Order: sequence, then structure tokens, then C-alpha cells
Amino acid sequence: STKLRLLVVANRLPVSAIRLGEDSWKLDISVGGLVSALLGVKEFETRWIGWAGLNVPDEIGQKSLTQALAEQRCIPVFLEEETAQQYYNGYCNNILWPLFHYLGLPQEDRLATTRTFQSQFDAYKKANQLFADVVLQHYEEGDVVWCHDYHLMFLPKYLKERNRTMKVGWFLHTPFPSSEIHRTLPSRSELLRSILAADLIGFHTYDYGRHFVSACTRILGLEGTPEGVEDQGKLTRVATFPIGIDSDRFIKALELPEVQYHIKDLKERFAGRKVMLGVDRLDMIKGIPQKILAFEKFLEENPIWRNKVVLVQIAVPTRTNVPEYQKLTSHVHEIVGRINGRFGTLTDVPIHHLDCSLEFHELCALYAVTDVALVTSLRDGMNLVSYEFVACQASKKGVLILSEFAGAAQSLGAGAILVNPWNITEVASSISYALNMPADEREIRHHHNFKHVTSHTSQEWAATFVSELNDTIVESKLRT
Ligand code: UDP
Ligand code: G6P
Repeated sequence: STKLRLLVVANRLPVSAIRLGEDSWKLDISVGGLVSALLGVKEFETRWIGWAGLNVPDEIGQKSLTQALAEQRCIPVFLEEETAQQYYNGYCNNILWPLFHYLGLPQEDRLATTRTFQSQFDAYKKANQLFADVVLQHYEEGDVVWCHDYHLMFLPKYLKERNRTMKVGWFLHTPFPSSEIHRTLPSRSELLRSILAADLIGFHTYDYGRHFVSACTRILGLEGTPEGVEDQGKLTRVATFPIGIDSDRFIKALELPEVQYHIKDLKERFAGRKVMLGVDRLDMIKGIPQKILAFEKFLEENPIWRNKVVLVQIAVPTRTNVPEYQKLTSHVHEIVGRINGRFGTLTDVPIHHLDCSLEFHELCALYAVTDVALVTSLRDGMNLVSYEFVACQASKKGVLILSEFAGAAQSLGAGAILVNPWNITEVASSISYALNMPADEREIRHHHNFKHVTSHTSQEWAATFVSELNDTIVESKLRT
């Protein structure tokens, strides 16, 4: 085919493998905004390179998994157990993820052992080298190599060191924090320099890009220009590309008999009650305790609503080997239990909390029957759940309560009720406002958001990034 070849390199492949036997595998769709958005991208001849999410130490396993993944156009990167532990659980999810979401560095690493920090950082670099090896094995001249997210900040540097003419882009799916936060990171300079090796660097919002550029000027002493960052005459282009969803996929799914069946079923189950919905990975950035406490306050203050509303919270288990995530799980279970004990009756509880992921059709049905969606992220790169909810609300025109700290607040701000998730009182009164909102106001708000979600799709996002990357390379050739 004549389609442009695109190598998408991300830590997480769109499918995660479960081992059934020596050479047999089950592949499940991975959960997360990065995968959801990239699955919508169809105009390129795309290959994925990434980690299948588990340790495969033996040759038979590696061979058979490689074959199974090839059918999905996926190429695995195999990481040894210890590397994965230190790179994925350690440096990525215990250090970079919380820091980029303004939760700071872990105290114990800062105080006790520089060795721990250093060995996790070494594993991070080692893992990035392994990704680079696999990219180079599969790279063909002219391919566009698009690196994704905080797991792979060394990849642009390692790729360019081995092939200067490779077209390399890097996109961050999380916020990039203020330079005051970034500068607390012991490896702050090396990380910045490695990303700067890319031709194009992309962020969801203008603010994240501005934070990155000021980190480069303040920490590295480089010059920031409207186009990006300049280092001794070499420009690295920095730009904003707000991600979207494949909205048609959701809109079309609602027509399917299977989804219609789920919708009917859910409507019967929740008959006589308004449905409020949260869908999140069980992550501290999602503000799940804050959301549940706000719901409790709302019930406390509005006794007439007590048997007329239910909060459905889908909390997908994630990064379960990281201690902070384990603590969060028990904390959330504790408060859900307490509130259900307090406001539940013999036959009903106010909070339906599920520790599992839903299948796509069930999720669409749930979005469609929801009256009020609650997104209370303390920080969030974009938050695609808010987009998916809007896409599924053409008939119901429900209300979106959205954290002002999610990237989506910049695009769905006109239609959503924006809240500060730390302000429990404000969230509780927004719940009340949303549940009582008249139909005409709901319609106007929904219309704003629906227009945005259906006209800023993941397809366009990817096409814009790739064409900007090509332009950047043409321009830089003209300059030299
Ligand atoms: N999701 C899913 N199954 C579930 C719950 C969520 O596939 O049971 C998907 C959801 O549809 C969305 C993604 O997970 O596309 C979450 O993306 P978001 O940007 O909201 O947050 P992230 O998980 O990337 O932090
Ligand atoms: C966020 C990150 C993604 C990640 C996803 C799921 O969306 O930006 O890079 O894939 O969370 O997390 P996991 O650790 O399971 O890949």
C-alpha cells in the first residue's frame, strides 16, 4: 500500500497478554486513554511497538507471543522481571507519574536511598535502550517514528544517536508540570535533553507546552521561541495537539442490538433513580475519594434525594504492584463501605463500586443511561472518559461535572460544570445543581460539548501531529 508507515512506540501495547499455556495466549484490549485514542487512528500503515504487560522469560513463550501479536500488527519489547519492576513500577509509576500530576516525589526515595532512585533511573534508561533496539530492528527508511508518554523520554535521544535522519516525534499524554515542580526531579536535566532530541514534541494543552519550554530555559539555560526550544542553532519544535476520541465508534455502537439490550436492562435496574457515573482507573490522580466524599455530603444535605439517586463508580484496577495504588484501593473501599452503611437500606445502596473493567458495549450503555457524569481528577492530561460520555448522550443530554484540573476542562469548559475537586462543598452543590438542571439548559450545554467531541477526533489529532512532524523536518532541512 502507499499509506505512510507509522511506528507507534508506547510502553503499553493496545492489547495486554495473558498466558494460557506454554505457547498459547489470550489478548485483551488494554485500558487507558493512550490506547483508546491511538486505536482510532486508521489513515496510516501502523505498527505498534511496546510491552505486553507481563514477564516472558522463556524462548518458546517469546516466540509464540511475538506471533500472536503480529496478527494485531504489534511487536513486543521483552523486559526482564527486575528491569520491569524498577522501570515500570518504580521510575515510571512511583516517580514520574505522581510528579507530573503535582503529587510530588516519594518521601522515602528522597530521604533514604539515593541508590534506589539511581537504580530505578538506570533501569529506566536500560528499558528505553531496549525499546530503541526493537525500533531499529523494524525501522525502514522513511518511516515516521512516534514515541509516546513519560515512559519513553530517553527514546528520542537513543534513536537519533543511532540514526540521525530518522523522523522522530514525542507526545506526552500527561500534564507537563510547572518548571518549579520539574526542577525537584534529580534527573531533571538529562530527561529534558533526551526529549529535545526529537524533531517535534507535542502536548495536550498550551499550558503543558509552556511549562516544558520554561523548564528548558530555566533548567538548561536554552532559548525558548514561539516555535519551540533552540540549542546552538538547532530548533526542537514544541506544539499543542489536544487529543480526541473516535466519536463515531461510540455513536454507532449505541445503535447495536447488544448495546440497546444493555441500555434497556440498566434502565430497568435503576428505574425511579437518577444515575450518576464515574469511570476511572483506580489511580490517585482521579480524585476518587474526593468524589465519593462530595457525594456523601450531597446525600447528607439533601435527604429527599437519598433513595432517588445512585452513584455507579467503575474503578479499573491498575498498576497493582505499586504500594501507593494498593493503599488507595483499601482507602476507597473503606469510605464506600462506610457511606453505604450509613445511607443504604435493606435492598439498596447509594454507591455501586466496581473493581473491574467493563466490556466496550456495556460501557457505552452505561454512558448512555447516565444523568450526571462526575470527573474529579486532581490533575489529568486530557481525560477521555469525559469525551466518551458526551458522545453517548445525544438522546439523554445529561450533565458533565468536570474538574478544572483535567486537560478536557479547556475544551469542554463551555458545556460542563467546572469544579475544583478539592472543594468538597463546591462539588456537592454542583451535584445538586446538575440533578435539578432544567432540560433547556442541559440541551445547550450538551450541544456545545457534542460539537467539540465530534469535530476534534483522534483521527485528526494523529494526522495533524504526523503532518506537523513532516513539515518540521522539511523546514529544518531548508534552514541548514
Ligand atoms: N476504559 C475501558 N474499560 C473500562 C473503563 C475505561 O476501556 O472498563 C477506557 C475508557 O473508555 C477510556 C480510557 O479507559 O478510553 C481512560 O482514558 P482517560 O483518558 O479517561 O484516562 P487514563 O486512564 O488514560 O488516565
Ligand atoms: C495513562 C498513561 C498511559 C497508560 C495508561 C494506563 O493513560 O498516559 O501511558 O498506558 O494510563 O496505564 P498502564 O500503566 O496500565 O499502562
